[in-house]
Amino acid sequence: MMLSIAHRGASGYEPGNTLLAIRKALELDADIIELDVQLTKDRKLVVCHDQKVWVGYKYLSITHHTLETVQMIRLAKNQHIPSLREALDLINKKAAVNIELKDRRSAAPVCRLINEYVSKKRWGYRHFIVSSFIKDELLRIKKLSPRIRIGLLYNKPTRNLSAAIKQYKPYSVHLHFVAVTRDMVRELHEQGIKVFVWTVNSMRLIDRMRDYRVDGVFSDYPDRI
Ligand code: G3P
Ligand code: CA
Repeated sequence: MMLSIAHRGASGYEPGNTLLAIRKALELDADIIELDVQLTKDRKLVVCHDQKVWVGYKYLSITHHTLETVQMIRLAKNQHIPSLREALDLINKKAAVNIELKDRRSAAPVCRLINEYVSKKRWGYRHFIVSSFIKDELLRIKKLSPRIRIGLLYNKPTRNLSAAIKQYKPYSVHLHFVAVTRDMVRELHEQGIKVFVWTVNSMRLIDRMRDYRVDGVFSDYPDRI
């Protein structure tokens, strides 16, 4: 079975990385919900793709403002930027969560939050995958909490995948669809690594990924998978 991964929530239907998009992904029975995570000035984790957000007349930098200020920003459909806690509480184990670290300082607070949800709120480590293009942050996650599953994220073909797998010992590799080949999927599976592919919206490509036997596909339309 190929898992459906709702990219930024069901972002083809609702504004990405908002509670509306998460709710829609749950309604559509996504297996995993992918969320981008940034850190505010007061070191709170928020769900947002970009570090800078357009507020109508200028860009506001999340890093330079507190959670309170960041949450005053109005997005499309009158949505606010959710804290990661709000997002997790809404998901409430009805789907797993792929937290994508977008900030270089986010490994430690993300580990703390995951460990809190596991120890106090009956979540399991199986409910989380932490991925990032910033490989150092993933190493920090591994050091701080070896039980948290990490996903190596790539945006173009890489020739050093084997070396990276030895170094990071990931649970999964997250590849852009242009970079995936059938052989690559087979080789990764032989090493026990899951293959997730982003971001696949067309039925033709989704079918091709199924044919390649990838483990999961990120899509803005998780109901297509
Ligand atoms: O995690 C896969 C994908 O979300 C990475 O790209 O720009 O959509 O965060 P981006
Ligand atoms: Ca992402």
